[in-house]
Amino acid sequence: MTAAAAPATGKDRLILALDFPSATEALAWSRRLKAEVGLVKVGLELFVAAGPSLVRQLAGEGHGVFLDLKLHDIPNTVAGAVRSAAGLGVRMLTLHAAGGAGMLAAAAQAARAADPAPLLLGVTVLTSLDEPALASLGIAGPVPRRVLAWAEQCRDAGLAGVVCGVAEAQAVRAACGPDFLIVTPGIRPAGAPRHDQARVATAREARAAGADYLVVGRAVTSGDDPVAAARALAAEAQ
Ligand code: C5P
Repeated sequence: MTAAAAPATGKDRLILALDFPSATEALAWSRRLKAEVGLVKVGLELFVAAGPSLVRQLAGEGHGVFLDLKLHDIPNTVAGAVRSAAGLGVRMLTLHAAGGAGMLAAAAQAARAADPAPLLLGVTVLTSLDEPALASLGIAGPVPRRVLAWAEQCRDAGLAGVVCGVAEAQAVRAACGPDFLIVTPGIRPAGAPRHDQARVATAREARAAGADYLVVGRAVTSGDDPVAAARALAAEAQ
């Protein structure tokens, strides 16, 4: 995969998580914040509820769509899913690094062959998994070392980048180089509610750690003034 162009402005770096159960809510929020964010993220909840037609509609309304389905299957199946996602006009797509080098390479090849080619992002160790959980799966830790090893495997397979925590971003940047995209969730303004996130960081901290894109959800959607919240995050994310 060719090196992805880094986003130019703070606004371009923001990815709004459309964590809603219906197309109606997702479309309302995406329209409301269209001028304030670079992309919108469709995750499992929304995709299972509203499906490919919503993704097509979002892309058709001019949104960059990040399809966060965390694909994990045999190489042939994942390559087919990458082709299908490309056909929906998706700009970014996630897959599990744990699917292995063969799966990652098949996905990267399918993405390269698509026009326009979606940017593939690897998901390394889920933040819900701790050291004992990894050990119970027979996966060697410690977690930070596993994150780095899988990030390097994603880079070697030709993926555009990874999704990781702000805490790991600096090490991933150092190991994987300046052109490897780093996307970090768990972003909150200083002093804001953490909701269910165990570890949070500000947009400024995420950028200082080397993040290219920041996933923002409730920090924008749960407050009184979502537009102002998004603008403040964009200013910090310059
Ligand atoms: O609302 P909030 O900003 O916490 O939303 C975070 C978004 O990022 C959600 O869509 C969530 O699934 C995603 N995410 C996360 N932590 C990870 C990976 C993804 O919160 N480690």
